[in-house]
Amino acid sequence: MSETIRWGFLGLGSIARRFGNGFAFAPDNEIYAVASRSQAKADAFGAEYGATQCYGSYEALLNDAEVDVVYIGTPHNFHLPQTLMALEAGKHVLCEKPFAVNAREAALMIRRAQEKRLFLMDAFWTRFFPAMVKLRELLAQKVIGDVMLVSADFGYRTGSVTPESRHYSPSLAGGALLDVGSYCVQFASMVYGKQPIEIATQATLGSTGVDELSVSVFKYSDYELATVTTAIRLNTPHEARILGSEGYIALPRWWHPDEIQLVRRGKSETLRFEEIPGEGFCYEIMAVGDCIRAGATESAIMPLDETLAIMKTLDRMRAAWGLRYPFEA
Ligand SMILES: NC(=O)c1ccc[n+]([C@@H]2O[C@H](COP(=O)([O-])OP(=O)(O)OC[C@H]3O[C@@H](n4cnc5c(N)ncnc54)[C@H](OP(=O)(O)O)[C@@H]3O)[C@@H](O)[C@H]2O)c1
Repeated sequence: MSETIRWGFLGLGSIARRFGNGFAFAPDNEIYAVASRSQAKADAFGAEYGATQCYGSYEALLNDAEVDVVYIGTPHNFHLPQTLMALEAGKHVLCEKPFAVNAREAALMIRRAQEKRLFLMDAFWTRFFPAMVKLRELLAQKVIGDVMLVSADFGYRTGSVTPESRHYSPSLAGGALLDVGSYCVQFASMVYGKQPIEIATQATLGSTGVDELSVSVFKYSDYELATVTTAIRLNTPHEARILGSEGYIALPRWWHPDEIQLVRRGKSETLRFEEIPGEGFCYEIMAVGDCIRAGATESAIMPLDETLAIMKTLDRMRAAWGLRYPFEA
């Protein structure tokens, strides 16, 4: 493998564009190939992002021996079959969040990557921001004492209910939880290092049957709780808070953080991380590139056993709401 990691994109929708912009700030990683179901779209995207190869089918990209790692940016329900196809073709994989639709699918993907000894990761890019690295250090140093309460919200208001869109269509695994609530669940998982023993949750299932709004309380032990708020029909503040016995930490814009507010003994201190290149996808790109160069099959920051555990928590929340997708029957 060359020093530069050669990426291949499967699916050229909105996240592929945003993720692609991160390569300008990720040395030793290049967008080598792009694939769309449409050759014209692949050609246009490839010209704009400087790709060497532009394919009109996903299979053609997977047959290109020069591709080191495949980035999957398609709707959630395609993550399982496309990850398996990429692994079968001998490619490392970075798969967009949510990693899969449910834990059963996630387990299949993880098992196959392990059998093939290939790198696989759930694309929670949030974890790679410098502010998140610092947050993990602060928590390890117990600067706010014992953590007792975590809260995170991630909600946005889509323009209208478009039943065929990936946000609202049950056949595309729509709903707020898998789309953005999954960020909050992985955040609580990162802070506590475990999954809740009890979950109390309420959701509003809208006209298409998917969750449009929900609020949940997680209990990890008597003195370890979390709240998770998520929506696709409501803008929320996008704030996270971690409250401990000796103070608290607040993260505005927490899923792409550039600031940590630390409050201890009545004093407030703000740590700023303002020099974020572009949107900040470069941190995740570089981390994946480094893992692949080092021969790692998973990331220590976003490990596969945690991905599976998070998927199980998401399953429990959907089960409590009675939300099953048509293809899960
Ligand atoms: N990390 C993040 O911050 C972030 C942000 C947004 C979304 N995401 C995740 O990325 C994934 C894609 O989201 P997106 O917003 O980019 O969606 P999108 O704009 O709808 O793009 C998805 C792409 O998937 C491909 N695709 C293949 N089969 C499809 C089908 N039957 N229906 C629709 N699209 C199909 C299409 O690419 P071609 O036409 O080129 O084949 C399409 O452009 C989701 O899993 C989402 O959760 C992550």
